[in-house]
Amino acid sequence: MAQTIDGKRISQEMKDELKARVAALAEEGKEATLAVIQVGDDAASAVYVNNKKKACAYIGIKSVSHELPEETTEEELLALIDHLNRDDAVNGILVQLPLPAHIDEDKVIRAIDPAKDVDGFHPENVGKLVIGEPGFVSCTPAGIIQLLKRSGIAIAGKRCVVVGRSNIVGKPMAILMLRENATVTVAHSKTKDLPDLCREADILIVAIGKPQFITADYIKEGAVVIDVGIHRDEKNRLCGDVDYEAVAPHASAITPVPGGVGPMTIAMLMYNCVETML
Ligand code: GUN
Repeated sequence: MAQTIDGKRISQEMKDELKARVAALAEEGKEATLAVIQVGDDAASAVYVNNKKKACAYIGIKSVSHELPEETTEEELLALIDHLNRDDAVNGILVQLPLPAHIDEDKVIRAIDPAKDVDGFHPENVGKLVIGEPGFVSCTPAGIIQLLKRSGIAIAGKRCVVVGRSNIVGKPMAILMLRENATVTVAHSKTKDLPDLCREADILIVAIGKPQFITADYIKEGAVVIDVGIHRDEKNRLCGDVDYEAVAPHASAITPVPGGVGPMTIAMLMYNCVETML
């Protein structure tokens, strides 16, 4: 049976390390404030935002919430970001996505000062990631690298297939695995013979947003399987993009949902916030 990659434990370990670093920085008179912006009242976003604020409180970072109504205009949101960019007391700015349809997400992401972009979504930070310069890295893919490393899974030389090509997960994930010297293939909804391709993977990372899409057919015996998806199944239980019960017997290690990748996203956000203090 596969090793369970315990994201809950690993994220807790990271948060405790960060808490100690924040306490040491406080001794030097350094502190950090994260501004968290949510527009509208999407229920899932509210849960994520709340978890982010709780994590800040745990590690000793101040968080300031800006909960804006659904009908907030793009101009109003951009004006708030401009204000926060100029505020020296604010180290990090996070705009929870998705935004209401009348607001241009790309424009909002570009408006955030790259030095405060703790989500790592600004094109300047994405560009730095691609060319291997220091900058903020998108939290979910950065968290997956930590999960692999802290679970003792070697990456260099392995064949990695990333299923999904979003700007937030799939693309930065592929670049990070390449940086770790994996041989990387990015697959997506138009990929031909996807099960055959996935069966070449030593490390299969799935972020396609389709519940329990990946079955045993997609898995090479002994592969490491990382599941980024989070959905509700027909019985209202949380599930991922991977059919865990079917896949786990064939994998050497696998992330559960919940308790796998999810908690790591927040741990890495906290890591990025601590980076703003240095
Ligand atoms: N929505 C889904 N994931 C994320 C994330 O990592 N950051 C932000 N800001 N919004 C999200």
